[in-house]
Amino acid sequence: MTDLVEKTHDLLEALEERPPTARTKEEAAPLVDTLRAVVRRHDHRYYVEDTPVIPDAEYDRLYRALETLEAEFPALQTPDSPTQRVGGEPIDAFEKHEHPEPLLSLSNAFDEGDLRDWYERCQRQLADRYGAVEPTLVAELKIDGLAVALTYEQGQLAVAATRGNGSVGENITHNIRTVHRIPLRIPAGADNGRQPPERIEVRGEVFMRKSEFEALNDRLRADGQSPFANPRNAAAGSLRQLDPSVTAERPLSFFAFATGPISGPSPDTHTEKLKMLDGLGFPMEAHTQRFEDLSSLTSFCEHWGSHRDDLDYEIDGVVVKIDRHDYRRELGTIADAPRWAIAYKFPAREATTTLTDILVNVGRTGAVNPEAVLEPVQVGGVTVSQATLHNEDYIAERDIRIGDTVVVKRAGDVIPQVVRAVAEARTGEETPWHFPDTCPACGEELVRLPEEADYYCMNSECPAQFKRLVEHFVSRDAMDIEGLGEKLAHRLVEEGLIRRLPDLYRITIDELTALEGFAEKSAQNLVEAIDASKTQPLRRLLFALGIRHVGKTVAEDLVAEFETIDDLAAADADCLLTIDGVGPTIAESVSDWFLLPENQDLIAELKAVGVNTERLPHEAPSDEGADLPLEGLTIVITGSLPGRTRREASRALEEAGASVTSSVSGNTDVLVVGETPGSKLQEAEAEGVRIVRMEDEEDFERFLADG
Ligand code: IVH
Repeated sequence: MTDLVEKTHDLLEALEERPPTARTKEEAAPLVDTLRAVVRRHDHRYYVEDTPVIPDAEYDRLYRALETLEAEFPALQTPDSPTQRVGGEPIDAFEKHEHPEPLLSLSNAFDEGDLRDWYERCQRQLADRYGAVEPTLVAELKIDGLAVALTYEQGQLAVAATRGNGSVGENITHNIRTVHRIPLRIPAGADNGRQPPERIEVRGEVFMRKSEFEALNDRLRADGQSPFANPRNAAAGSLRQLDPSVTAERPLSFFAFATGPISGPSPDTHTEKLKMLDGLGFPMEAHTQRFEDLSSLTSFCEHWGSHRDDLDYEIDGVVVKIDRHDYRRELGTIADAPRWAIAYKFPAREATTTLTDILVNVGRTGAVNPEAVLEPVQVGGVTVSQATLHNEDYIAERDIRIGDTVVVKRAGDVIPQVVRAVAEARTGEETPWHFPDTCPACGEELVRLPEEADYYCMNSECPAQFKRLVEHFVSRDAMDIEGLGEKLAHRLVEEGLIRRLPDLYRITIDELTALEGFAEKSAQNLVEAIDASKTQPLRRLLFALGIRHVGKTVAEDLVAEFETIDDLAAADADCLLTIDGVGPTIAESVSDWFLLPENQDLIAELKAVGVNTERLPHEAPSDEGADLPLEGLTIVITGSLPGRTRREASRALEEAGASVTSSVSGNTDVLVVGETPGSKLQEAEAEGVRIVRMEDEEDFERFLADG
């Protein structure tokens, strides 16, 4: 298998260096042959063996390159090319099922421009018959599972089949019968009293919820079996089991999204059809939405691109469909995809690369975590060269070795992680990895506590821990010191300017300008920013101290109960336990922290340098919830605001309950406009976002108070 992965990477590299469109026919001919052979082998791994060795995104790039070259040089096309087939091959082990109407695939859009081109093409084609029309669209989340066709006769589930190659699938009726979420029977009168059609083929996606997938993998690991790489593979593997009793134990879900042939009258629009399927008792995805025009649909696509992690199932895009069936008929189908629908694909979040080393990283609490060093690779538009490996068990359970080809995933704002090793790509040169015995920063022996996944360096003076603590203390969610990022924080520790946290507040302009590359002005700004952080609310200080288990929410819960840090320090674990949101682990961690003499000294010193250690008026419990005037509003700022820096304005808006984001989207509630606004103003106007202009400081104060 190694050669297949290697060959794929060589090909991708060659394509990157010289894209298909830049090639001559002579150059293209051997490349087309190689691409075809490689795509075919991947198809086999994917469709027949259910164990792909490369991420879908890499496959897509190969496939598209092949398609492009064949389109450019039609003479190179052959009828047996993988591009001429609708999908995968049915497996011999199952009975074949010939679909009465093919299950089509979709062409892809990767950005707003592609969507617009597609829509305008549809409009042009419809113009001959219907004149200038703006077809209504339906947007559905594209569930990452596998398509099935369920035929009901006289209300009974008669045949269920996979998509297979689009024309012929596998008969998996026995397995589908075990999926609880798929009705075996459509009761008479289900659809608002209407008689269900004599014969109807319902199409939809079988998938596995993320939570159920994790639980299944935990079970498989516990039984010594290999876990599935992702929910899609788990769903496919579960559905194509020869023994239905195995499928029955797998937590499969289903959403209906279309129909095949229906006897008797059938609805005129897709919206009506989805309503009918819902009425007949099929599970429907809840976020489907109808759009009268393209621009609001684009916001929907963008919204789900950045919120896909909010769902308990994987989606890889949005399927956009023209609603009216007469328009669909007019538009027709080209090759294996309809012209009336398109898949807006999100950027891929997985890629494969080589893991060259594993280092351990010491955190501010002393937790020591393994981190993968990777050959740099593009994931979701960003180059990734490091990724988390979580802990010792994570690596052992997945048998991840140094030198392995690994799948790296980057989801939303989450740190990139190594998901799995591609065992099939091993050469025998890979070496297993063992957790080190001692802290790489201070040499202290590492300890793994019972019931904990992490190792700890227990040395409270470990320099690595202290650097991390300073980095955390100054960070945006903690004391929020402008201009003091991770690198500078580390440097100030390395240069000996900060030995204990309160030293931060003693740094002088002279000390900073003595450092290489520090100008007078930036030194002055930094000292001012540090000084300004002395008046941060108590909850921020509590979070900044880096007490184990005290995150932002716990810090808020504690401040709701205690007016000063001294009151909190005086509370014992039992007293802390009576607070809402505080369990035994937190209570013990907080009271232990305040019992240590060095921490008591730390608080005294922070007070002495002038850091606020008392609850501020707006932190009082009565200020929470209903009393926050901007609670729940998502706000964007443009232009300069009277009397406040951008950061001060953001902070004030956040203190009043708003969440402040940097760009206008479908989620924006208010655009706050100052002097000389930027392009966000037009964007907000186009989105119909509420616009609040700030002529003077009073306008801002009024808005903060009343919303
Ligand atoms: S419609 C002609 N709707 O995506 C219409 N497909 O790339 C073809 N899929 O094989 C399918 N969610 O497995 C459609 N809401 C949705 C979908 C969806 C997921 C999958 C389906 C199909 C593939 C097409």
